Amino acid sequence: MNRNSFQKVAVLGLGYVGLPLALEFHNHDLEVWGIDTDINRINQLKSGTSYIDDVPSEIVKKALATNRFFVTNEYNALSKIDAVCICVPTPLNKIQEPDLSFIIQAVDAIEPYLHKDMLIVLESTTYPGTTEEVVLPRLLKKGLQVGKDFYLAFSPERYDPGNKQFNIRNTPKVIGGITPACTQQAEKLYKHIVPKIVPVSNARTAEMVKLLENTFRAVNIALVNEMAMMCDTLGIDIWEVIDSAKTKPFGFMPFYPGPGLGGHCIPVDPVYLSWKMKTLNYTARFIELARTINSAMPRYVVEKMADTLNEKKKSIQGSKILIVGVTYKKDISDIRESPALDIISLLMKKGAEVYYSDPYVIQLEVEEKILQSYQINKDLSQFDLVTIITDHSTYNYEEIVTKASLVLDTRNATKNIPPSLKEKVIKL
Ligand SMILES: NC(=O)c1ccc[n+]([C@@H]2O[C@H](COP(=O)([O-])OP(=O)(O)OC[C@H]3O[C@@H](n4cnc5c(N)ncnc54)[C@H](O)[C@@H]3O)[C@@H](O)[C@H]2O)c1
Repeated sequence: MNRNSFQKVAVLGLGYVGLPLALEFHNHDLEVWGIDTDINRINQLKSGTSYIDDVPSEIVKKALATNRFFVTNEYNALSKIDAVCICVPTPLNKIQEPDLSFIIQAVDAIEPYLHKDMLIVLESTTYPGTTEEVVLPRLLKKGLQVGKDFYLAFSPERYDPGNKQFNIRNTPKVIGGITPACTQQAEKLYKHIVPKIVPVSNARTAEMVKLLENTFRAVNIALVNEMAMMCDTLGIDIWEVIDSAKTKPFGFMPFYPGPGLGGHCIPVDPVYLSWKMKTLNYTARFIELARTINSAMPRYVVEKMADTLNEKKKSIQGSKILIVGVTYKKDISDIRESPALDIISLLMKKGAEVYYSDPYVIQLEVEEKILQSYQINKDLSQFDLVTIITDHSTYNYEEIVTKASLVLDTRNATKNIPPSLKEKVIKL
C-alpha cells in the first residue's frame, strides 16, 4: 500500500493521553472518532464538557461543531477507519504486576473490524514485547498478514500533564513497527501532527525507549530523595545543594526531592520492566532500589512531621494538621497514586485531626472519610502544623506562612518568602 496521508483516525481511550491526541488529529484536518468504554466520559464530551485539565471545554465544543469529530462508546466506527491509536490504561494489579486487561480488551474489540491497510498503533506504556507478543497474535486471527495487509506499531506517548512548554506538537515522536512497512505507515500518520519523528528498529525498542525515559526519572528522583535524607542527617539544606550543583553547565541535570511519587506513570512504568525482567530471571536492581526509596517517602514525611511537632512538645496524636496540596504534581487535578493520600492516611491512623486544602480537589476520600477542601485564605493559626505537599502555583506562600504557626515544606515552595518568616518553616 502506498498511502501518503490518513483521513479517518480513531483514538481508543479518551483520557489524559487520548483526548488531547484525538483533538490534535482533528486540528490537522483529519476526521476523528474518539472511542471510550466509559459512557459518562462520552456523555460529558457530547455535552461539550472536558474532564481533562489541559483540554478546555471550549475546544471540545468547537471540535464537535465541525462534524469531523465524533465521540462514542461503540466500536463499529472502526470499520471505516484508516488508523487506530490505543491509549488505554496500563495499571498494576493488586499484586503489583502489569495489568494488560485494558489493552487486551481494546485489541479484541478492534479485531472484528480489522480490514485491509488499517494501521494500529499502541501508545499505552508497557513492557518490551507487548505489541509483538500480546497485540499481534490477537490481530492475526483473520489471516491478514502484518506489514502487508495491515500495519502494527508502538509509539510511546510522552505527554506531561500541566507542562505549558512541551506538548504533542513540539515533542518528537518515537515509532517502532512490527515490520519496516509498519514503521513507515505509522510515520505517515504522525507526520500529520508532529514535526519530528524518530523511527526505531522495531516495536520492542520503542517500548523500551519509554521505559528508559520513565525509569531514568524514577531512579534520579530516588537518588535525590536519598540525598535529601542524608543532607537532613548532616544538617545541610538539600535545596541549596541542588541549586548550586545545577550551575554546572554540563554533566548534571537537577531532580528534586519530594513527599513521594505519584501519577499513572513514574511509580508504575518501571515496574512493567522489572516484572518482564523477572520472567527472564533477571533482577532490575536500580528499579527495585528506586522503588524502595521513593515509596518510603510518605512515611519519611510523616516522621519529619512528628519530629517537627515534637520540637514544640506536641505529638501527631491529637494535633490539627493541614495538608496543603493533594494532587501528585502541581497545577493539575490528578490525585492518582498521590503521596498526599498515603500521608493523610498515616496521620489519621496515628490519631491526628487532618484537614486538606487544594484548589483542584474539592472533596477527597481517605480511610472511608470524606474530607472537604479547606479554604486556604481562612484562619491557619488553629493548625498545629501546616504541611506543603503539592506546590501549586496559585498559592501565596508568604501569606500561608504568615498565617500559620508552623510549616513543613516538602517542595521548597517557600524559598522566596522574606527571611523574617523563615524561622516558622522546616524544609524536607
Ligand atoms: N497520563 C499521563 O501523563 C501519561 C503520559 C504518558 C503515557 N501515559 C500512558 O498512556 C496510557 C493512558 O493513560 P491515561 O493517563 O490517558 O489514562 P486515563 O485513565 O486517563 O484514560 C484511559 C481511558 O481509556 C478508557 N478505556 C479503558 N478501556 C478501554 C477500551 N477497551 N476501549 C476504549 N477505551 C477504554 C478509559 O475509560 C479511560 O477514559 C497509559 O498506558 C499510561 O501509562 C500516560
